[in-house]
Amino acid sequence: MKKRINQYVSWIGKNDWELKKFHGDEFTTTQGSSYNAYLIQDEKNILIDTVWLPYDKEFVTNLEQEIDLEKIDAIIIQHGEVDHSGALLELMSQIPNTPIYCTNNAIKSLKGQYHKEWNFKPVKTGDTLNIGKHTLTFIEAPMLHWPDTMFTYMDGEAILFSNDGFGQHLASEFLYADEVKQDDLWNQALTYYANILAPFGVMVKNKITEILKMKLPLNMICPSHGLIWRKNPEQILQKYLEWADAYQENQITIIYDTMWNSTRKMAEAIAQGIQNIDKSVTIKIMNTSKDDKTQVMTEIFKSKAILVGSPTVNNGYLHSIAGSLEMIKGMKLKNKKASAFGSYGWSGEAPTQITEFLRKAGFEIINDEIKQLWTPDNAMLQDCVKYGEELCQKLK
Ligand code: FEO
Repeated sequence: MKKRINQYVSWIGKNDWELKKFHGDEFTTTQGSSYNAYLIQDEKNILIDTVWLPYDKEFVTNLEQEIDLEKIDAIIIQHGEVDHSGALLELMSQIPNTPIYCTNNAIKSLKGQYHKEWNFKPVKTGDTLNIGKHTLTFIEAPMLHWPDTMFTYMDGEAILFSNDGFGQHLASEFLYADEVKQDDLWNQALTYYANILAPFGVMVKNKITEILKMKLPLNMICPSHGLIWRKNPEQILQKYLEWADAYQENQITIIYDTMWNSTRKMAEAIAQGIQNIDKSVTIKIMNTSKDDKTQVMTEIFKSKAILVGSPTVNNGYLHSIAGSLEMIKGMKLKNKKASAFGSYGWSGEAPTQITEFLRKAGFEIINDEIKQLWTPDNAMLQDCVKYGEELCQKLK
């Protein structure tokens, strides 16, 4: 259903209350999401983005109730991913000649996904589209988070349509960020950044710096997921600058997997050692085969150091640790420290392999790994406590 933002702009998106997984099975959404499309009705009528494919008919039906589709003068597709372009096939089947403004990379991604020769109008940074009382200016934003991404700035109303940038997977009956529980909002904004945008921190920083230098008036930032930033919209720009700058909190996260609890006991003893030295540090202990991977990655993003533990199995480490390490590597995190641990019965190479993986992924290794043969007894657990204490000393 349409929700009016101001005299000219309406939200015409879809709240997806039941969404549990996003990007296939990669991202767990605990509070649903929304696919935000916007309709601008000036002398020209402009649609910005659409919704995810399963909601294509519902979206077009809703849109038809608001405007005669033939009266849509142009569609702006800021990013080709299917959660925003998914209703194009349905929509374009009814208005096949309507121009689609997007970047050259978006033309490639849309053609690659939909195999249609629509009336594409490629745009670059600084290109404008006059729509009557207002002018829209396009700002390419490559790798925020696809090469095809762009933002659109509407003068007069001073609205920045930012697509995935500054979004949150958060379905809400409200439209604005200042209307919802702030803990939920910031938790979801951070989770979104950590799991989607973290690898592109340099581009994020550069793009925001570029936008701030333009000194554009800014009344609102309208992302393509979640709530609209209306009250002090610069706050999310500042927060992104912080997150993009090798972000860390006073937190250490210990992730492990375990077969018969020996590596778990080691994890808990190491945590005890850390706490013995620094009671102010937040310690998270997570089992990668039981805890949700999106939450695990979010905690790792927030940490100044991580410890990764696995028993040695078949000369390697357990599969949930392998998957987690691959995700960690993809985040391209900066300025974080790490070490590894694990129990073993024969060869015991898992902690060394984990250490090497983390080193190659850009982590500074704080300590040699600690490994323990068979089941740790009290003396061995005390060694883990000491290991945690030493490690924490080095982090102080
Ligand atoms: Fe929300 Fe990159 O799509």
